[in-house]
Amino acid sequence: MTTYSVALNFEDGVTRVIQCDDDEKVTEAAFRQKINIPMDCRDGVCGTCKCFAEKGEYELEFYLDEAMTEDEAAEGYVLTCQMMPQSDCVIRIPASSAACKTAPEEISATVAGVDRLSETSFSLRLMLDRPMQFLPGQYVNVSVPGTGKRRSYSFSSAPGATEASFLIRNLPGGVMSSYLAEAQAGEQVTLTGPMGAFYLRPITRPQVWLAGGTGLAPFLSMLEQMVEQGTDQPITLYYAVTRAADLVELDRVQALAERIATLRVITILAAPEDDHPRKGFVTDHLRIDDLCNGQADVYLCGPPPMVDAVRAHMAKLGVTPASFHFEKFNPTEEKAAAA
Ligand SMILES: Cc1cc2nc3c(=O)[nH]c(=O)nc-3n(C[C@H](O)[C@H](O)[C@H](O)COP(=O)(O)OP(=O)(O)OC[C@H]3O[C@@H](n4cnc5c(N)ncnc54)[C@H](O)[C@@H]3O)c2cc1C
Ligand code: FES
Repeated sequence: MTTYSVALNFEDGVTRVIQCDDDEKVTEAAFRQKINIPMDCRDGVCGTCKCFAEKGEYELEFYLDEAMTEDEAAEGYVLTCQMMPQSDCVIRIPASSAACKTAPEEISATVAGVDRLSETSFSLRLMLDRPMQFLPGQYVNVSVPGTGKRRSYSFSSAPGATEASFLIRNLPGGVMSSYLAEAQAGEQVTLTGPMGAFYLRPITRPQVWLAGGTGLAPFLSMLEQMVEQGTDQPITLYYAVTRAADLVELDRVQALAERIATLRVITILAAPEDDHPRKGFVTDHLRIDDLCNGQADVYLCGPPPMVDAVRAHMAKLGVTPASFHFEKFNPTEEKAAAA
């Protein structure tokens, strides 16, 4: 018997990863792990448990055409009461985590260290009490010690490890930024998550990845996964910052590039006074053919103005990517309070 990890992505952006044996139905495995995927007949008859498999191999036992048509099955829909995974899977559940009687995981962690990478960014390293499973690209809410507040951060490390890292912009006077400037190893934080729809899908076509500043973080996590999985498809990572000093984690990116033959990294600097072969904004360097005439998956992450500018630029070029995924690093005050 083999056990696989099955990521359940709920409508509200929460992800829970369950373990499912290869001869176990997904709804049963979920129920065993205290998650109630909507279901009724459990026999492949009613269609209540229909979800969408974004990734993975699986077997489907008996079901009626009334519950799920052949066309739906061919598209990737699954009846989770009849689904047995034959690899790790990612499933989109058309219900909120609360409706499925679950919630984001809370994991305690200890600050292992904070590295001041530049004037404008920190790297925060945490030792987790237990590993957190997430999809590369996703984020968690991190509590800020002594403030009762939380901030959202994309993992820059690979999923499932006990040490997690984050790449965090230094906003002078900001709640997390002020904490990190003084943080001591050994302090306790809580992670709530994982969350978000910005995660790496199976790679079947060229990839265009666009990072603005600390928006590099989720791509580092994705690259860690690519080292494990490998790919034949070209990946072009554009990494745009303001000043030369803001180009952080380049050693790590280069080390990853040495292990991913199809990865090309393009850096861009905005500040006019700094010398660099590519100056300006990322939009100054993205032509239709860089976007593979729309035949690429585009992933975009960074500050809101950059995300908006790239979207407007693609619209102006008349390019609709084969798939498009973005994460805006919005100020988290309201989100964190609500979380
Ligand atoms: C889903 C998600 C994922 C994120 N992941 C990351 C990440 O991986 N790395 C990262 O550095 N940040 C990330 N962010 C942003 C992060 O959550 C915080 O908003 C940011 O780090 C500022 O926190 P702070 O406590 O230091 O400042 P705050 O106390 O929140 O803000 C201080 C001041 O700066 C302003 N401000 C806050 N954010 C911005 C901004 N983006 N641009 C301009 N002004 C701003 C505030 O309005 C306020 O006036 C993410 C946000 C979201 C929503
Ligand atoms: S619960 Fe009825 S088809 Fe799955």
